[in-house]
Amino acid sequence: MSNLQNKRVLLGITGGIAAYKSADLVRRLKDQGADVRVVMTSGAQSFVTPLTFQAVSGNRVHTDLLNPNAEAGMGHIELARWTDVVLIAPASANFIARLSHGMADDLLTAICLATVAPLAIAPAMNQQMWQASATKENCQKLAERDVLQFGPGSGEQACGDIGLGRMLEPLEIVESLSGVFQTRELQGLKVLITAGPTREAMDPVRYITNHSSGKMGYAVAQAAVEAGAEVTLVSGPVAIQAPSGVTKLDIVSAKDLSDVVMQEVETHDIFISAAAVADYYCPAIADQKIKKSGDEMTLILKKTQDVLADVAALTKPPFTVGFAAETEKLAEHAKVKLKRKSLNMIAANRVDDPELGFHSDDNALHVFWQGGEQELSRNSKQKLASELITLVAHRYKLKIDNNNE
Ligand SMILES: Cc1cc2nc3c(=O)[nH]c(=O)nc-3n(C[C@H](O)[C@H](O)[C@H](O)COP(=O)(O)O)c2cc1C
Repeated sequence: MSNLQNKRVLLGITGGIAAYKSADLVRRLKDQGADVRVVMTSGAQSFVTPLTFQAVSGNRVHTDLLNPNAEAGMGHIELARWTDVVLIAPASANFIARLSHGMADDLLTAICLATVAPLAIAPAMNQQMWQASATKENCQKLAERDVLQFGPGSGEQACGDIGLGRMLEPLEIVESLSGVFQTRELQGLKVLITAGPTREAMDPVRYITNHSSGKMGYAVAQAAVEAGAEVTLVSGPVAIQAPSGVTKLDIVSAKDLSDVVMQEVETHDIFISAAAVADYYCPAIADQKIKKSGDEMTLILKKTQDVLADVAALTKPPFTVGFAAETEKLAEHAKVKLKRKSLNMIAANRVDDPELGFHSDDNALHVFWQGGEQELSRNSKQKLASELITLVAHRYKLKIDNNNE
């Protein structure tokens, strides 16, 4: 089935009788883990109410362009930037005409012009309107601009006609939409990814850990699945759901992580280490809960196994990508780590900014490799992960091509 987890979907609803089905569409998109924001034309509001869509999407519904109050908060440019994809379902003949002519006379058309996200329409109209030369020409124009078209389907229509023009069923639209995010960049490759924190036990009730939420590693795993890879995700304890289509192996401590990775890695082509693995562990875990006693206590810690370095040092290492979470001297520390551990690539991010890093939904990465670097500017972790995977796929291919020369 499709995978739209954490994808930001802007659903445009226009004035067609099929608008009643869009409430179910929102639910189906949310079932797939998408974050849905609804924008309705004034035509759409004659068929269904914003209140319905606010209830099913869990978000405020956007209806106005030229209204200072409505533009406060998430205005058209913000919505255009926020979304990963714009889906218009149903797309009326009138809306298709306005879109093909580049109009920006309401909120939805303005967003369509202002976004760089892919656009998809699910046309729905009377079969004669669908066959009209004007509609055909408009759709042709949109296809030339890479606007995707899902349907229409054929069958009995609300007006009693039979023919082409029915909006596809919500599940069919969801399936088509998930295809928008599929690339073949890592087709046929096996990718091993670590994510989340580790926990190092002190006694039966206490442990040492860090703030990693697993969001970045999980986003990378999802992006790798979308790129066609077979993905194994080795995950520390996190509170988020794994992307569908991955094989998830749960670990707790740095030792567990090391054991699982070393067992799995030989069968994988690419290793991406996004977990925040503890650098130190307690070698002597107390059998019983440590009792409060003196004013101070001393914990003896020992260095954990450096999994990333171990993988990179294998006789036949996979293409190895590390992450560096730093609070200062980002580039300097990342470059040292890249060289010292003989990595193919390292993605550095600052974790001292509360709006970026560990628990936030956004991040920014600075990626380094031998002789090159690229900054991936602030974006959702999902979008950044896709950009990172594109970069990994590109560098991996170059390495394989060089090895074969
Ligand atoms: C009862 C009724 C049903 C309609 N159904 C459709 C339809 O399914 N598809 C369509 O393209 N237009 C349909 N229309 C016409 C549109 O509502 C009209 O073109 C409207 O201006 C569309 O506005 P919008 O595209 O800005 O939302 C219907 C009109 C009425 C009165």
